[in-house]
Order: sequence, then C-alpha cells, then structure tokens
Amino acid sequence: MALYGVLGDCHGNIEGLRAALAALDARGVRELLCVGDVVGYNADSDACAALLRERRARVILGNHDLIATGRLGFERCANNARYALQRTRRTLGRETAQWLATLPERLLVDDAIALVHGGVRDVQLYMKTLPIVSRNAALLRADFPTARICFFGHSHFQKLYEVAEPGGARELPLGSALVRERLYFVNAGSIDAQRKSAYKLAECALFDSDAWRLEFLSVPYDARATEAKAAARGFRIPAFTNWLYNWRRRLAAA
Ligand SMILES: [Fe+2]
Ligand SMILES: [Fe+2]
Repeated sequence: MALYGVLGDCHGNIEGLRAALAALDARGVRELLCVGDVVGYNADSDACAALLRERRARVILGNHDLIATGRLGFERCANNARYALQRTRRTLGRETAQWLATLPERLLVDDAIALVHGGVRDVQLYMKTLPIVSRNAALLRADFPTARICFFGHSHFQKLYEVAEPGGARELPLGSALVRERLYFVNAGSIDAQRKSAYKLAECALFDSDAWRLEFLSVPYDARATEAKAAARGFRIPAFTNWLYNWRRRLAAA
C-alpha cells in the first residue's frame, strides 16, 4: 500500500507530463501508475515513454500504443487521431516500440487496484455512461474479484463513479470521500489537453491506498509549445486530408 500518482493519456505531450510529475513529486508521490496512451497526437512520444521508464511507472497499453506499434488497426480512429498515429508509426523510436511490446493491457496492483485503458475487456470502449460503467463493474468482479478501485482512461475527462451492489453505478462529485467497502471507477483525466477547447491543463490523481483517499489534480503546462512542435513535425491533419478521409469513409460506406 502506498501513495500513488495516477495518470494516463499522455499522447506524446512531454510538457504536460513533466508538469504533472512535478506536481505529484511536490506531494511526495513515489509510485506512478499509468493507464496507457503514452503515444500519439503530439510530437514527443519517445520522450514520454523514456520519462515513464526512468520513473519506473507501472504502465498498461492504450489503443494508441497498440495502433502505433501495429497491433491494432485504424478502424475506430477519428481522422485527426488516424493522421497523427500514421506519423507516430513512422517516427516512433525502436526503444519505445520494444518497451511498449513488454507492457500488459491490464494490471492489478496490491490486489485492490485495477488498471484498464478503455473498458475492462475492450481497450477502445469509452466508459462514459452509467449503464456502461455498471456492465464493466460486473466484468471487473469476474476478472479481478479482489479489486476495489479501477482506474481507467481513454475518455480523457476526470470522473468518479461509485458502484453499489445491487443498484449499479452513480457519478459522484470529484472531491467525494471513498468508502472502503464500495467499488469505484475513476478516470484521473488526461495529461494531454491539446484537443480540449475549454482548458489546457494536465490532469492526474493522487490515491492514498492506506487512507483510501483520492484527490484530482489539474496542472498548467506550456500548451503553446506542445502545439507548435506538433504542427511543425507533421502531427496535425491538413484540412484537405481531413476532407479526403471523410470522402473515403463515405465511399466505403456506400
Ligand atoms: Fe487517449
Ligand atoms: Fe485511448
């Protein structure tokens, strides 16, 4: 049991990752848990992977990590993700690819903390509604019977769900206290905020597994620097290519 820093969806945003780690360091965190999508969208996938390795973070795979290393196709990707991932595939360092090949898709930590990226059994599922969280709670009980809290990512927004037996899931305010006997699903938010229009903050969470206490953090970072690098290095889809992808999609569906 320990004080954990929980993060995910870095997406090659090294400015966001450094800012979040500095905030977690200042709070005395030594153990890092990452729910995947280390790479994609931005220009510094290798740097993010190297920093997480250096910090000995426990990391699982996200769909972008699987797509960037050729283990998953582009079928469920939006145009901007597909374009950036094609660029990521061409530029990803060998060391990063080798490291990603060693990572699990799910992880149980200290018998109580489960890490998944999307859904419990589907890396590309968005856990965004109460029925979906309830269904995934049943899958979690089947696959990880000792888990009491499940951290997930992929949907990129900070969320706290409590699951009662029976009754299903309900969403709680982010500052709510946790009860040891209950089951929780938590999205710590996304390190990368480049696709968010409302704010540019690197999000993560602190979880004290002794006190069973959870805290969400949102940290400013140099989003302009991230965007300038991503644009300069070819990670942003040009308008014509976006139009072309849409046209091909319509043609394929006809
Ligand atoms: Fe993501
Ligand atoms: Fe994802």
